[in-house]
Amino acid sequence: MKKKSTNITWHETRLTANERAKRNGHRGVVIWLTGLSGSGKSTIAVETQVKLFEMGCQVYILDGDNIRHGLNKDLGFSPEDREENIRRIGEVAKLFADAGMIVLTSFISPYRKDRDRARNLLDPGDFIEVYVNAPLEVCEDRDPKGLYKKARAGEIPEFTGISAPYEPPLKPELEIRTDELSVEESAEKIIGYLREKSVLF
Ligand code: ADX
Repeated sequence: MKKKSTNITWHETRLTANERAKRNGHRGVVIWLTGLSGSGKSTIAVETQVKLFEMGCQVYILDGDNIRHGLNKDLGFSPEDREENIRRIGEVAKLFADAGMIVLTSFISPYRKDRDRARNLLDPGDFIEVYVNAPLEVCEDRDPKGLYKKARAGEIPEFTGISAPYEPPLKPELEIRTDELSVEESAEKIIGYLREKSVLF
């Protein structure tokens, strides 16, 4: 995306990330869930959000299907549109993290370079990539929205895993096998990581 604006300056806002973290009891971070449709990203995001909320955290979910109803409703599923989808989400997630929140993002985000670009917007340690990994056969078997069936029938072009690529993370901070762990265990794994890295204190 080309930058169009000129004559703009950056304003400092006097409140620091540290001050927000002290009040909240945690840093603002982005927990970036990536994986195939039906792998369990949204389910894990919802469970993790509830647990963190009950612990008193400031937490918010950005979800693929939801964001595509609003902010990104002008985007489809071509590689270029997916790139722009992830670029915008990366920027929005960064803003939420900057506001002190724990942000859970739930997007297929199939391209490594797009995820890495989102990662590079944040300080090291503040972008936690979680590979929500379930074999394609399992996702297809679950098919919660009936989309794999349609994709196999040729009714949805460029469907991730069927007719469009998914590039798994090479070095995610966490990997969750949702065909082996329960939703509860998956959420606990994420929260355990946040404790271990002193995101929560
Ligand atoms: S991403 O690839 O750009 O990251 P995103 O997570 O926003 O995708 O949206 C994925 C959701 O859109 C899927 O869960 C599914 O419900 C729906 N969807 C519709 N068409 C497609 C498609 N061609 N490929 C993947 N998901 C699709």
